[in-house]
Amino acid sequence: MKTPSTTARSVLAASPAPEGLSLSVIGTGYLGATHAVCMALLGHRVVGIDVDDDKIRSLAAGQLPFYEPGLGELLRRMLDTGRLEFTTDFSAARGADIHFLCVGTPQRPDSPAADLRYLHAALARLAPQLDTDCLVAGKSTVPIGTAEGLTAYLHRNAPAGTRAELAWNPEFLREGHAIEDTLRPDRLVFGVASEHAHGLLAACYAPLIADGTPVVATDLATAELVKAAANSYLATKISYINAMAEICEATGADVNHLATALSYDDRIGGRFLKPGLGFGGGCLPKDIRSFTHRAKELGVGQAVGFLQEVDAINQRRRQRTVDLITEMACGDLSGVRVTVLGAAFKPDSDDIRDAPALDVARMLHQAGAKVTVYDPKAMDNARRSYPELTYAETLEAAVTGAEIVALLTEWDLFCRADPAALGALVQLRNIVDGRHALDAEAYRAAGWDYRALGTPNRLPGQVPVAPVPVPAQNSGCHC
Ligand SMILES: NC(=O)c1ccc[n+]([C@@H]2O[C@H](COP(=O)([O-])OP(=O)(O)OC[C@H]3O[C@@H](n4cnc5c(N)ncnc54)[C@H](O)[C@@H]3O)[C@@H](O)[C@H]2O)c1
Repeated sequence: MKTPSTTARSVLAASPAPEGLSLSVIGTGYLGATHAVCMALLGHRVVGIDVDDDKIRSLAAGQLPFYEPGLGELLRRMLDTGRLEFTTDFSAARGADIHFLCVGTPQRPDSPAADLRYLHAALARLAPQLDTDCLVAGKSTVPIGTAEGLTAYLHRNAPAGTRAELAWNPEFLREGHAIEDTLRPDRLVFGVASEHAHGLLAACYAPLIADGTPVVATDLATAELVKAAANSYLATKISYINAMAEICEATGADVNHLATALSYDDRIGGRFLKPGLGFGGGCLPKDIRSFTHRAKELGVGQAVGFLQEVDAINQRRRQRTVDLITEMACGDLSGVRVTVLGAAFKPDSDDIRDAPALDVARMLHQAGAKVTVYDPKAMDNARRSYPELTYAETLEAAVTGAEIVALLTEWDLFCRADPAALGALVQLRNIVDGRHALDAEAYRAAGWDYRALGTPNRLPGQVPVAPVPVPAQNSGCHC
């Protein structure tokens, strides 16, 4: 394996042709659309291909079919350059230097394994178009060993045979920061089987590499494993602090103080050490399950057995949040007006795949609460998937008349809200901060009963705040 520094040096020599490369991006969802737009920005000619007619029509018209800060504007700029186009016609991929595979690899409905049917279908449509020397570079997150199988398929089915090479180039972007993460990634990982494949990827990313992005060039299996290992580590860190929150809940310790103290330890660091409702989305949960499943298939399940506990800790946070809200409702949620702030799995995204906020909202609804949801960007997606919930059009409308407010996705809008102004709208000043994102003292000072998982609950008499005029119905417990 090449060291990152050697690789970076060799790559600097391989600057792209002045006119850029010709690229196809297969699958234009969150990852693929971002990749296509950003590659056009780097000067390449890019065609984005998807089987979803509506998505392609929308992208071609300059309308981003999902929310990602800054990407809609960049999409329109790149369309105007003429370097970027979108189509459902796979023959448009013909002749491209690199074909990036960006289709979804969700969890299978019947098992923890990754569902690779979209990847296989995409390659089946792409392969017949590959009649010249080219590279197919997988970016989707896949189980270890997938690329090896796809290589054999490609060589059998592409007219170019073995001159159509396969590489794996895993993607680490975060929704909400997708452009920045694509153009200034922490590292680039090239899983390659030849110098030729390495040179093409290096040429594609030349401006990033020139900007100092380290490159790790390695074999296909290691490239696949880097992504699984990175997501497993992040998930473990989140669940670790949430496991500590469970201990805090049993002992009266304060998980926020604990996390702060741990974060000052250079060996530990503070990132991904924030307690709360835990992780969700279209990546971490399905990736750790698929990794565990694949490790078992390989006979090394024990090595990552701990990931099942990481998953379980994460799932328990959702029920524990419902329990805390139920405690605030004095044990009975029937008919209680609960406002859920947040639907997206994280702020600055409209992605609701495995969103903890909506899972909690669903459980509250099932327990009899009258649930109203508000999210700045994910309302349409949430409405489609959870029509049984009530939706408000603004933050103010959402909290008006609420008996309990639950902050479940930490959008800036919610974190910046004035506790006194919100307090004037609610029926009862009860708030559960599922993300440890609010200023607890400011809320308490404004007369709210503020609760968060893993932090001691201060009784009203213990709250060190100046007296605030609180309407009688706003004090204390719901009942
Ligand atoms: N979303 C992220 O933040 C992110 C980050 C890193 C890695 N990933 C990985 O990237 C992959 C894609 O994730 P996503 O979030 O973009 O998913 P997505 O569901 O938003 O997009 C997948 C796209 O693939 C298209 N597709 C399905 N079958 C196809 C076919 N046969 N031919 C062409 N297109 C087809 C779908 O129509 C859809 O537009 C996954 O493996 C995911 O784990 C995602």
